Amino acid sequence: MKRTWWKEAVVYQVYWRSFYDSDGDGVGDLQGVIEKLDYIQHLGADVIWLNPCYESPDKDNGYDISNYYAIMEKAGTMKTWETLLDEVHKRGMKLIMDLVVNHTSDQHPWFIESRSSRDNPKRDWYIWRDKPNNWRSYFTPSAWEYDELTGQYYFHSFAAEQPDLNWKNPEVRQEIYKMMRFWLDKGIDGFRLDAIALLAKPEGFPDAADPNDICYLANNPGLHEYLREMHEQVFRHYDIFTVGEVAFVSPEEGLKYVAEDRRELNMLFHFQVCDEMPSWEPLRFKQIQKHWYDVLWGKGWNSQFLNNHDHTRQVTRYGNDKEYRVESAKLLGTMLHTLPGTPYIYQGEEIGMTGVRFSSIDDYNDIAMKNKYKEEIAKGKDPQEVLESLQPLSRDNSRTPMQWDDSPNAGFTTGTPWIKVNPNYKEINVKQALQDKNSVYYYYQKLIQLRKENPVMVYGTFCDYTENEPYIYAYTRELDDVRWLIVLNHCDHANDYELPGSLAAYKREVVLGNYLDIQENGNVLHMRPHEARIYRLI
Ligand code: GLC
Repeated sequence: MKRTWWKEAVVYQVYWRSFYDSDGDGVGDLQGVIEKLDYIQHLGADVIWLNPCYESPDKDNGYDISNYYAIMEKAGTMKTWETLLDEVHKRGMKLIMDLVVNHTSDQHPWFIESRSSRDNPKRDWYIWRDKPNNWRSYFTPSAWEYDELTGQYYFHSFAAEQPDLNWKNPEVRQEIYKMMRFWLDKGIDGFRLDAIALLAKPEGFPDAADPNDICYLANNPGLHEYLREMHEQVFRHYDIFTVGEVAFVSPEEGLKYVAEDRRELNMLFHFQVCDEMPSWEPLRFKQIQKHWYDVLWGKGWNSQFLNNHDHTRQVTRYGNDKEYRVESAKLLGTMLHTLPGTPYIYQGEEIGMTGVRFSSIDDYNDIAMKNKYKEEIAKGKDPQEVLESLQPLSRDNSRTPMQWDDSPNAGFTTGTPWIKVNPNYKEINVKQALQDKNSVYYYYQKLIQLRKENPVMVYGTFCDYTENEPYIYAYTRELDDVRWLIVLNHCDHANDYELPGSLAAYKREVVLGNYLDIQENGNVLHMRPHEARIYRLI
């Protein structure tokens, strides 16, 4: 398999508005990111994924871009951004920018022109129809918004303020490629491509049999031609990596995006885990991992993540954020850094930050949640019940400010934070983590260091020995004559795991574990709640 820097990398996602506020306006900013770069470097991550910071009315926290060539005022200036890129590079790290090309803001000059009249030259840059079909969008009951001025509907996969670009139009594509080159020429190291599976739309927009299953929004014919063109005209001219957010794909479909011989993208985020598993389902998780591995290995590259700015913090959603928070956070980290694919750390994950429950809908900001709330209330549902049903997966679970210390607002801002801080910041914060040598932070640091020193974690083949085990997940990674065994007891009680003969034949050496001592009796491993171990088999 071809070795590349981005396969070996560990990516750290910075949701800058919640990371660190350098000027006291309550919103994190790029200067704040600069001030905390040493922290990220000390952790060991080598690539930063920066959420969108382009000019935007900010209806969907920057995913509604009104000017691709400018920096949002809240975030800083182009000069601050350039300093950030410089400072990242000075530390030997890389920066990838989150880019939204499926849609723009409705305040983008292109859309303002497009909606101004039916014969405006930019009319066809967006998607206009006389009649809507029955599709939902991600955030609204209809994917179509009626525009009175010209008496037609425009299409939006997300909020009404995020009209979809018409990728069929070659002028649109050329404008986007030009803009991509603008950022790449500034020296960035790649893109995270937002909602990239949505670019192509089906001919004629036929009604869906089940409008609630919105997978019709993604993977439509024509998409791969766009991606190949994008690669040909843009990506291949730079030493960069691209990771696509690819909704609703099976491994077989996913491979089409990342197969090395197809020249489209380098890596993908698939959502089989997040979409199918509101909470932990071990057997399904193992199947998903194995299936993706079987289809992708040696042909295209995967990512590993369980949370990000859209998905509730992993220790809350998939682990135990109460009595075993520290062990559980370490176990999940062990798993993500030892399964095949590039691991992504979402800010705060490395200190075991948890999800949040705000008591009132007014404390939430997430447009997806708020729109859904309104929709359900309009149907006459009980507000409290609706709130409770939406809380577990609200995107704001991950968007509360980074917890730096136990001072007011967790040291995130000296002003009033744009979203409330998680009340547990007094116990869970960076300052505490840095003072405790057994913290989640130092464990992550160790995991990252191991990845740098042991190619087996990146390039080793994968074999699961516990496909039908509900609690223990034991798998090997093997590269040449190096063989690692990872054993995870993903549950709140202890379990013994007896090694199968083929593994018992080796001598074992502990590489890393999240308990201070190792308990085993011959070939029976006594695994305590949320215990994780990495062994070298010799
Ligand atoms: C992606 C982003 C999400 C955003 C959406 C629309 O899913 O991760 O935050 O709301 O695209 O751009």
